[in-house]
Amino acid sequence: MKKIVVLVGSARKGGNTELLADAFVKGAQEHHEVAMIFAANVKVNGCIGCNACYSDEKHRCIQKDDMEQIYAQLKDADAIVIATPVYFYNVSSQLKCIIDRLHNPIRDEFKVKTLFLLTVAADTDPAVFDSIKVMYRSVLHYFHLKDGGMITVPGVKNRGDIIGNKALEEAYQLGETIE
Ligand SMILES: Cc1cc2nc3c(=O)[nH]c(=O)nc-3n(C[C@H](O)[C@H](O)[C@H](O)COP(=O)(O)O)c2cc1C
Repeated sequence: MKKIVVLVGSARKGGNTELLADAFVKGAQEHHEVAMIFAANVKVNGCIGCNACYSDEKHRCIQKDDMEQIYAQLKDADAIVIATPVYFYNVSSQLKCIIDRLHNPIRDEFKVKTLFLLTVAADTDPAVFDSIKVMYRSVLHYFHLKDGGMITVPGVKNRGDIIGNKALEEAYQLGETIE
C-alpha cells in the first residue's frame, strides 16, 4: 500500500478540478492510502526567497503558516498528484504558492518517486496545457521522478462542465491501476 497526496489547486468548491481529482482518488483508494490537500482551504504564503531554510539545521521556514503541516504530509508520500485548473497558462496561484515553498532543502527528505498531473481548462485547444506540461516535465527531470500519468481536460469552463466527460473514468482508472 502506497501513500498518495493529491494537491488540489482550484479555489472553486465542487469545480472541475475537484471532480477530476475525486475520480482519481476513488480509484486510488481501492488499493492505497490517499490524502487530499485543498490549496483554497489552507493559508500558505508565497516564498519570499530569503533562503533562511537553507541555513536552518531543521530547514524551518521563517513564515509560520499551514505549509508546516503540508511539508509533513508530503514527506511521507510515495506519489504526489498535482490537480489544477489552468489559470493564465499556469497552475493556480494558490497551488503555485505551495509549489514555490518547496524551494526548501526539506524536500531532500521526501521519499516521493512518482508524480501525476490532472488539469482542466476552458479553452478547447489542447495547446492551452503546453506551459503546464513543460513545467511538469521539467520537475520530473530535475528531481528524477517518474511520470505516473497525465490527464488534461480542455473545454470545461463552468462548475460541473466536466460531468459526463470520459476524463472522469480515465482518472478513476489511472488511480485504480497504481501499483
Ligand atoms: C483566474 C483564472 C484564469 C484562467 N485562465 C485560463 C486560461 O488561461 N485558459 C483557459 O482555458 N481557461 C482559463 N480559466 C478557466 C478555468 O481554467 C476553467 O474555468 C476551469 O474549469 C476551472 O476549474 P475549476 O472548476 O476546478 O475551478 C481561468 C479561470 C480563472 C478563474
